[in-house]
Amino acid sequence: MRLTIFGSGYVGLVTGACLAEVGNNVLCVDVDERKVERLKRGESPIYEPGLDDLLRKNLAAGRLNFTTDAVEGVKHGLFQFIAVGTPPDEDGSADLKYVLAVAETIGKNIGEYRVVVTKSTVPVGTADKVKAKINATLEARGAQFEFDVVSNPEFLKEGAAINDFMKPDRIVVGTDNPRTAELLKALYDPFTRNRERMIVMDVRSSELTKYAANAMLATKISFMNELANLAERMGADIEKVRQGIGSDPRIGYHFIYPGMGYGGSCFPKDVQALSRSASDHKFNAELLNAVEAVNKRQKTVLFEKMRTFFNDDLAGKTVALWGLAFKPNTDDMREAPSRTLLEALWAAGARVRAYDPVAHEEVHRIYGERADLQLVKSANEALQGADALAIATEWQEFRSPDFDLIASQLSRKVIFDGRNLYDPAFVKRFGLKYYAIGRGDSVC
Ligand code: UDX
Repeated sequence: MRLTIFGSGYVGLVTGACLAEVGNNVLCVDVDERKVERLKRGESPIYEPGLDDLLRKNLAAGRLNFTTDAVEGVKHGLFQFIAVGTPPDEDGSADLKYVLAVAETIGKNIGEYRVVVTKSTVPVGTADKVKAKINATLEARGAQFEFDVVSNPEFLKEGAAINDFMKPDRIVVGTDNPRTAELLKALYDPFTRNRERMIVMDVRSSELTKYAANAMLATKISFMNELANLAERMGADIEKVRQGIGSDPRIGYHFIYPGMGYGGSCFPKDVQALSRSASDHKFNAELLNAVEAVNKRQKTVLFEKMRTFFNDDLAGKTVALWGLAFKPNTDDMREAPSRTLLEALWAAGARVRAYDPVAHEEVHRIYGERADLQLVKSANEALQGADALAIATEWQEFRSPDFDLIASQLSRKVIFDGRNLYDPAFVKRFGLKYYAIGRGDSVC
């Protein structure tokens, strides 16, 4: 089948590459010329395991193409995927200007039946707005063509996006037209062969499903972080509590890891946008607001421990920082808890020697050159001349470090672990002090 994807960001690229991989003819449209040039050469602008290979293979096979020409895009595909960004407005609600600009382009250039699929995370009611925009544009042209607007949210996790796309838990399709449901079924058939995983529903329920999934997961995390803060004050160990409750299948082990608060491009933005939509409907979403407030506070917890340990005097201290990305297997720094920590350390006059396996370029792009930040080539190099070690991302390579080396390098022999990577009793054998999240003796 022929399909067009507007927006070569994270969602658009993964969707395009995976749909091309099963034999479709995919044209990706983006306004950013430099990005399109890079993509044509098979260079992915984002770090995502497996994506580079898929891009090159399908480019070479001629099934995947990139262009800045939106008119060609509208002509190309029966399916017109909208996968452009929906950045938060100043008030936290999702900004639809890019989505509606694509709708307008489609309206201006449509010449035969098209299925318009909204893939971006958009507030409930957006499909109706897209429809209205296309209709208004058609009217202005004095033209009449048939089209349908379908909601088809993505549930991809960064770092595992290709696998998530290829082997989805579910594919949610929101449409009020049974004929388009059939078309989408045919498109996704290669991914749902072994089990029916497509859930078809009305458009508004589909739009809300995406927010509901992310808000539920964010709620689990904030709940555990709240409990972690309580546990350490009560002399309990949240890691034991986590195992104790996770074994109940109604609760489950997933997404109950306490830490430095959730980050990334989805949870913070989506929880805020849903709460904002609630206010637009004159409803005070108290639970969602609390989820967000707890998360904001959680991002400061590790710094507060450091501040207390150093008696409010971090000026001139050097902190080794392991991990910068908001989670492992990505270079994404959006809403990363490490940023709150870095900025608080700098404000307190500390210097940071940081190491992340892939995020340095991103960090450099965000913060530029600064005297109080050194990006070094390895975890051990970060320790040199440092007073303390802080851990902000649970990369695999940090899980079994050389504790003797850590103890010998750090002048204050102390680890602040925002990801609960180690057994506290084991770490202490090396003469190290160890402060983690929600564990009995984690209060300085
Ligand atoms: C998330 C959703 O999982 C995905 O379905 C949706 O499409 C986009 O948003 P992603 O942002 O890639 O995916 O990351 P995810 O792995 O879900 O982690 C989000 C954040 O929650 C990270 O900051 C992570 O560190 C944090 N987290 C996750 C916890 O603090 N504890 C947990 O138990 C799980």
